[in-house]
Amino acid sequence: MTNNSKSILILAGDGIGSEIVQQAERVIDWVNENNLDNLVTSTGLIGGASYDEYGVPLADETLSKCHEADAILMGSVGGTKWDNVEYDKRPEAGLLRLRKDMELFANLRPALVFDSLIDASSLKPDIIRGLDILIIRELTGGVYFGEPRGIENLENGERLGVNTHSYTTSEIHRISKIGFDMARKRSGRVHSCEKANVMEAGKLWREEVTALHMAEYSDIELTHMYADNCAMQLLRDPKQFDVILTDNLFGDILSDEASMLTGSLGMLPSASLGVENPKTGYIKAVYEPVHGSAPDIAGQNKANPLATILSLAMLFRYSFNSGDIADIIEQAVSNVLKNGYRTADILDKDNLNSISTTEMGNAVIKELTILHGSHNGSCNE
Ligand code: IPM
Ligand code: MG
Repeated sequence: MTNNSKSILILAGDGIGSEIVQQAERVIDWVNENNLDNLVTSTGLIGGASYDEYGVPLADETLSKCHEADAILMGSVGGTKWDNVEYDKRPEAGLLRLRKDMELFANLRPALVFDSLIDASSLKPDIIRGLDILIIRELTGGVYFGEPRGIENLENGERLGVNTHSYTTSEIHRISKIGFDMARKRSGRVHSCEKANVMEAGKLWREEVTALHMAEYSDIELTHMYADNCAMQLLRDPKQFDVILTDNLFGDILSDEASMLTGSLGMLPSASLGVENPKTGYIKAVYEPVHGSAPDIAGQNKANPLATILSLAMLFRYSFNSGDIADIIEQAVSNVLKNGYRTADILDKDNLNSISTTEMGNAVIKELTILHGSHNGSCNE
């Protein structure tokens, strides 16, 4: 490894994971070949793939590698193949362990509607044209991790399933800060979503967000909204939102919903960020598409790699502070869509022929080369 190289650990995971990640790796190679950065990649197992090899969905050795990497790019985890493994060894448990162990508390999920995909959405064009929402989902707390949890046998012969939804003030503060800071770089609006009308943890969330807003962010327009209302408003009038700040479970649900505004779950990237890693000097971060492992189409070269490629763009922006590389990747994706390239998930009435995962990768690389060439050309003039 050369001195100023940066390391990216690639965890492809299960199902379509390896196919989509391969296309992002081609973009990494392209960045290296064009001397835009000096990236060294290595790979590790997560999810069912790790379970099959090590008997656990995330092995300790892999986790140590994660702590040493400058950034991590992930595919997806899960699949029916592992339906019957012990609950704490299911593929998803590997991803949850990774998020918790690295303290990736801030999950950024941008939902952006590309003009050329307007007809792929099930909503009317006027409702979604120009839509640009950022969902900030708390990722290491709430009901996903709260204790006690489990399934108990009761004396009366019934069984009781228990999960605990809890948040401390500091957990609410650190995620809210990210929400407000992001809003400052955007249009200055935050919708904070919880169920303060039903849950104490939601009431605390609202009180703490309000307190932080008054103390440090009074320039931001803050709206509190119940999460169920937010789900409804996202379909009724999504453009009222800029930053949506919410907890782990509501964020999971609202981001799947938001993805369909954009046309396909196959288009949504994400970044999961923590604090600075003293070992690397970079922030701890995992980048992954929002969609799952789609076992039904795995291995068929049909999956849409764009959410993974857009996640790689986020990696350059947030981990390596390379906004210019992020921009060129995002522009290449946008141009590819404009030129009519579609995987099966984003077909619309004007685009009836779908291309494969690899062909979509080819189209992105070709577009990157054109964009880079014209950019260099104009710089030299
Ligand atoms: C997501 C996924 C995960 C979650 C699963 C795979 C554990 O749905 O990242 O949105 O629920 O957080
Ligand atoms: Mg989800």
